[in-house]
Amino acid sequence: MSIKHNDIVFSGVQPTGSLHLGNYLGAMKNFVDLQTKMTSIYCVVDLHAITVFKKPSELRDNILETTAGFLACGLDFKKSIIFNQSSVSGHSELAWILNCIARVGWMNRMTQFKEKAGSNKENASVGLYIYPNLMAADILLYKATHVPVGDDQKQHLELARDIAQKFNNDFNNSNFFPLPEPLIQKNISRVMSLRDGKKKMSKSDDSEYSRIGLDDSEDEIKKKIKKAKTDSLPIPGNLLDLKNRPEALNLLNIYSFLTNSKLENTLKLMEGKDFSKFKNELSDVIISTICPIGKKNK
Ligand code: TYM
Repeated sequence: MSIKHNDIVFSGVQPTGSLHLGNYLGAMKNFVDLQTKMTSIYCVVDLHAITVFKKPSELRDNILETTAGFLACGLDFKKSIIFNQSSVSGHSELAWILNCIARVGWMNRMTQFKEKAGSNKENASVGLYIYPNLMAADILLYKATHVPVGDDQKQHLELARDIAQKFNNDFNNSNFFPLPEPLIQKNISRVMSLRDGKKKMSKSDDSEYSRIGLDDSEDEIKKKIKKAKTDSLPIPGNLLDLKNRPEALNLLNIYSFLTNSKLENTLKLMEGKDFSKFKNELSDVIISTICPIGKKNK
């Protein structure tokens, strides 16, 4: 990636519960790497969190917990701007203007709204429906050029680009908003649930065993990886044989990313091993990455 002097990074994380391995590998590791390369702005997006009802006291605790998580992961307030979204009223103000730019048809295509609202769409908050416009406002308020996110936010980023483009066209100023570029980790864009390899690892999953929290202890990590769903086949030697084995693929992907090796090389190394042996090694590499973050967070 070539960096220009006026490049700006912006990203946000919702304060909706403890941060997990998916947040870290998919997004926050990138936040930390970028803060020494470009002007970087990272936001705890509390206005996004209230699109679903939250008890005020719980929200306050979660904002502090997420901010502490930012620092424990390695964000440094001397290198990045770190703040809470609702403390800057410009986010809501620009969001209103962008609500008048975005088209209803564009909103209707957002898959995350469909997933979150589920079958009870009529009862979802209007905020949840227009949430992607607030996300576009977060980014465009700072004229950010680069947005590190996990793969699940890609569609929202495309929408932010469409909104920026339409605004520039409508007001005849082709350079007013830059079109923000998503920065998505190549090798681990989406960390999947440990209970179901077809679902992403998420703060809102009912099962604690579906995710590794950034504040999990060594024992918890070992227990969760031991219980992680796999299948009865041994580890194959090539990518083709991993097809239709989403849980196996997810664990091997996490291992490869954390050991800085290509998935193909991990497969060569692990070929023929059963999952119980591999899981011990996986637990060790997760522990050596996550536990130092958890200790800083305490
Ligand atoms: P949020 O709070 O759900 O997640 C924060 C970041 O973590 C990434 N992520 C994952 N990456 C890989 N695998 C996973 N299982 C996984 N789960 C979460 C997300 O992609 C995200 O990058 N709408 C955003 C927050 C937001 C934002 C913004 C982001 C609000 N305004 C402006 C960028 C720019 C969200 O709900 O992320």
